[in-house]
Amino acid sequence: MLIDDTFQFSNSRGFVVIEGVNGAGKSTLLSHLERVLVESQIPTLITRQPGGTALGKLLRSVLLESEGAARTPLAELFLFAADRAQHVSEVILPALRAGKLVLCDRYSFSTEAFQGYGRELDLDGVRQVNEIAVQGCYPDVVILLDMDPAAGLKRNASEPREHDSFEDEELSFHTRLRRGFLQMAEDLPIPFLVIDATQTREKVAQQATAVVQKLLKESKHLVL
Ligand SMILES: Nc1ncnc2c1ncn2[C@@H]1O[C@H](COP(=O)(O)OP(=O)(O)OP(=O)(O)O)[C@@H](O)[C@H]1O
Ligand SMILES: [Mg+2]
Repeated sequence: MLIDDTFQFSNSRGFVVIEGVNGAGKSTLLSHLERVLVESQIPTLITRQPGGTALGKLLRSVLLESEGAARTPLAELFLFAADRAQHVSEVILPALRAGKLVLCDRYSFSTEAFQGYGRELDLDGVRQVNEIAVQGCYPDVVILLDMDPAAGLKRNASEPREHDSFEDEELSFHTRLRRGFLQMAEDLPIPFLVIDATQTREKVAQQATAVVQKLLKESKHLVL
C-alpha cells in the first residue's frame, strides 16, 4: 500500500524496514536516522539482513561471496529464510518487546525481490516461506529507496566495499528487483513510503525522518 504525508499509523509496534536496489542509499540513510534518533534519546536498534546474528554472519558470508559452493535458487531462498527466522527471534522481537524502535536494513521484501522477481522462483512459494520466517513480525512501514539499478550499481562501484555476488548479476536481474519492489509497494497491505533515491542524501533523509517521527508520535509505546 503506497502512503503519503496524510497516512495515519495505528497499533504500531515501532518497526521500520528500509528496502531498495543495491546502492540506493539504505545504509547511508540508516546511519543518518541513527544519529537523529540517538540525539533525540529514542531507544533504537539498527540491524541488517543477512547478518544481524552470529548464525546470520556465517550465512551472510555464504550468501554474498561468489567463491562459495554453487546453490540453486530454492536453496538460496531457504538460506535467506534461515537468516531471517534467526534474526526475528534473536534480535527484532526482543528489541520490540523492550520498547525499542527497530530499523532494519533489508527484510522479507528483499527475499521476494531477489529470489522471487530476480531468480524467478514461484512468487506464491516465496511468500509462503517468508510468512513462516517472519513469524508475524511485519513492519509498520517500509521505506523504499527507488532508483534506476544501473545508477545504484555505479554508486557502489565508486568505492571499495564488501563484495556482494548479486552485483555480478546482469542488469536485467536488477531491473526485475526494482520492478518487484514497486509492485510490492502497490500490492501488499503493508504501508510503503517510496522515496526517489536519486535526490540528495539530505532530501532523502528529510523525507524518511519525517515518516519515522510521525510513527513515533502516533505509536503507543514510543515517546519523542
Ligand atoms: N542520495 C545519494 N546521492 C548520491 N550518492 C549517495 C546517496 N546516498 C548514498 N550515496 C552513496 O552511494 C553509495 C551507496 O550507498 P549505500 O551503501 O548507502 O547504499 P545501499 O543501499 O546500502 O547499498 P547495498 O544494497 O549495496 O548495501 C555510497 O557511496 C553512498 O555514499
Ligand atoms: Mg547497504
